[in-house]
Amino acid sequence: MAGVALLLLLVFCQGTLQAEATSPMTQPATVAVAALPEGELSAYPAQLPPLPYEYGALTKAIDAETMQIHHDRHHASYVKNLNAALKQQPNLQNRSVEALLRDLKSLPADIRTTIQNNGGGHLNHTIFWQLMSPNGGGQPTGAIANAIDQTFGSFDNFKKQFNEAGGARFGSGWVWLVRNPQGQLQITSTPNQDSPIMEGSYPILGNDVWEHAYYLRYQNLRAEYLTNWWNVVNWQEVERRFQLASQQ
Ligand SMILES: [Fe+2]
Repeated sequence: MAGVALLLLLVFCQGTLQAEATSPMTQPATVAVAALPEGELSAYPAQLPPLPYEYGALTKAIDAETMQIHHDRHHASYVKNLNAALKQQPNLQNRSVEALLRDLKSLPADIRTTIQNNGGGHLNHTIFWQLMSPNGGGQPTGAIANAIDQTFGSFDNFKKQFNEAGGARFGSGWVWLVRNPQGQLQITSTPNQDSPIMEGSYPILGNDVWEHAYYLRYQNLRAEYLTNWWNVVNWQEVERRFQLASQQ
């Protein structure tokens, strides 16, 4: 009797395992994703991540139409162009976006700039959406709050320097708080869609100062956008990225 029960149990378990093994829900999305280092972004196929909130959720700083165009058209075009550039490059398709950007010199010359612009655009915007929240704003908390105070003297002083760097970026680009290769917090700015990781720095916080990020509401007043943007900064995500940075 016990033998029959054991046999039935084994059959049941095997059936369950087979069902799980063949279920679409348990299949890895792609081989490329499975091969990536933890937390890094798939370059091929690159996928447009959904916004983690409604288009109109960040009106303390950014209007709904800007968010929709920014995400659905600008970010989507970086994803589309990155996939197009890598379509004929099977040797590069298993690399993460981060790995491609860290080693641009290793890429074929005819796609290098395309990868830099569109891989950077995909990575920067993927980070950017997460760094904002309808419940954001206020003061930083946790270890990042102490680190900002120690490095910049105070949160207000940090914001002032960050806004100045964002305002000083001529043309299109980004302003960042990074952990630099020496392990220090630093405010930096990158042109176009360049990522701080191209210089060995880890992006902790970043704001998009391309005109497409603010022009419908603020027109030429980038400084006003930079000031209001603090109303939506997701400090929990900043803290998470600060902890990740210290593990790099
Ligand atoms: Fe943008």
